[in-house]
Amino acid sequence: MLVENSVPLQPLNTFGIQARAQQLVRVSSVSDVQRLCRGWPEACQHWPLVLGGGSNLVLTGDVKTLVVKVDIVGRRLLTDTASHWVVEAGAGEHWHNFVDWTLEQGWPGLENLAMIPGTVGASPVQNIGAYGVELQDRFHSLDAVDLHTGDVFTLNAAQCGFGYRDSVFRHGAADSRHLGLAGRALITHVRFALPKRWSPETSYLELARKVQELGSAPSPRQVFDWVCAIRRAKLPDPAVLGNAGSFFKNPTVSAEQCTDIIARDPKVVHYPMPDGTVKLAAGWLIDACGWKGKTVGNAGVYDKQALVLINKGGAANPATGGEVMTLAKAIQTSVYERFGLWLEIEPVVV
Ligand code: EPU
Repeated sequence: MLVENSVPLQPLNTFGIQARAQQLVRVSSVSDVQRLCRGWPEACQHWPLVLGGGSNLVLTGDVKTLVVKVDIVGRRLLTDTASHWVVEAGAGEHWHNFVDWTLEQGWPGLENLAMIPGTVGASPVQNIGAYGVELQDRFHSLDAVDLHTGDVFTLNAAQCGFGYRDSVFRHGAADSRHLGLAGRALITHVRFALPKRWSPETSYLELARKVQELGSAPSPRQVFDWVCAIRRAKLPDPAVLGNAGSFFKNPTVSAEQCTDIIARDPKVVHYPMPDGTVKLAAGWLIDACGWKGKTVGNAGVYDKQALVLINKGGAANPATGGEVMTLAKAIQTSVYERFGLWLEIEPVVV
């Protein structure tokens, strides 16, 4: 366990925003986390900021609460049942490298989630998803430490309360809709159930086109390569251009609301859901309001995907959290004025 004071957070968030942590503790094992609970009981009671890859985070100032950087590594095959490989990884493992490694071992299932920035421990928090697969589709269980008591506990998928970019880890205990664990649970290990009877998930239009071009069933590695290529074409690499992935959630509306929105613009991209609601493409709504390429200070809207806000100033002259949030609010207001919808921010704002 390593304790540091006044730590620059710029290298620890993919937006590249400058801020400092008053105190940062690096934990690399379950016993480190338990030592932290015993040694800093006060700080652990007061909603510490748990950092994985810092890829879903907007810092609006220095962080006064304790910051815990999770460096727990390790990956292994836990069990091999008739139907699944159950694979476990430490929360601090790099997500994309983990996905790549599972494929190398011959355990498919995570290929559609290739290249998502961040760590394994962060993946259940927002139930990461891309190209037709969500983490919950491959999730087995996880271990976490209760920061109030130091106790280790295990949760299955139902107990994690997964939703679209949502889980119990995104809600506080006071949130009436959920048994919230935000600020309380520190995820240490995640287990995945990878199907032995694998079939490719290629319903996303660009993947379906690739399958047609190929003319036969793709391998898991083939799907992985396609997903990497699609992401490279559409989404900025945080190592080159700071960002936090999609900045807004795709909103869900009722069929009546959707009819109203179509009346405002018949070209609106929308996907009917099995429960009768309709999901709208937030990127399209923002794009339609003319935001691509617009800036506030050094914060900007990515010109190839309007759902992504970027740091145009690089490491030397980065956007501030204030600029990012001013831009985000201006986008929310303009989408609201044009379509009557308030977009929900996806990353955690601290
Ligand atoms: N669109 C535009 N203009 C834009 C952006 C999008 O017209 O500037 C249109 C596209 O042409 C398309 C539709 O909007 O018809 C949807 O766009 P896309 O397929 O790129 O997906 P998305 O809904 O914008 C979501 C996820 C991404 C994920 C992709 C692929 C959310 C918030 N975002 O984006 O996840 O990679 O689908 O599955 O659900 C992330 O969460 O950080 C993320 C990148």
